[in-house]
Amino acid sequence: MKRVAPSLLAADFCHLHRDLVMINESQADWLHLDVMDGVFVPNISFGFPVLEHVAKVCTKPLDVHLMIVEPQKFIPEVKALGAHVMNVHYEACMHLDRTVHAIKQQDMLAGVTLNPHTSVSFLDDILPELDLVLLMSVNPGFGGQTFIENTYRRIDQLRNLIEKRNSKALIQVDGGVTDENAAKLYATGADVLVAGSYVFKSSDPKNAILRLKTIS
Ligand code: DX5
Ligand code: ZN
Repeated sequence: MKRVAPSLLAADFCHLHRDLVMINESQADWLHLDVMDGVFVPNISFGFPVLEHVAKVCTKPLDVHLMIVEPQKFIPEVKALGAHVMNVHYEACMHLDRTVHAIKQQDMLAGVTLNPHTSVSFLDDILPELDLVLLMSVNPGFGGQTFIENTYRRIDQLRNLIEKRNSKALIQVDGGVTDENAAKLYATGADVLVAGSYVFKSSDPKNAILRLKTIS
């Protein structure tokens, strides 16, 4: 099944309510929320005071992507939002196994995110525990960047590893997703596509979401 998670980072923050209603009315599967701390990534986005309001309006499952150091400290806050998925970066977790189990104990899907330079093979031992692997297809920190073509190779490697380890993990791809690469991403093995600029900079965002969901 093709899933689409629009990224709120590209929304118009002066019209956040309008953009959230658009998401609610769209075919989006999840709403992707990018939290940045200015340390793990060279940018700061929004934090929990904003997300508490987003969670009140949004009727879609929330997919929280933490681009922060020590993400395990914020498991209670993410849980309090009612999040469906909590994504932590492999590069930010000293004790990934402990963090993954703590997320699952809170009845959230545990996602692990890999930067473009981090080999998917590092997940070999933990894959059976994971609900989702998020492959960054740009360097994290900013919307509107160019898709890194090597991502297809990484999806292929991860798909093979998931089968080998008999894991149920979904493959999510984040960064530079458009209607020009979506079909190939799904065909290569992606289950969930995150799209910020492509959706929110479109003149018809709802239709852009539908296009990503139905593309072949
Ligand atoms: C980047 C974020 C992405 C971002 C994607 O660090 O993780 O979710 O919003 O934006 P686009 O789709 O514009 O590349
Ligand atoms: Zn993201």
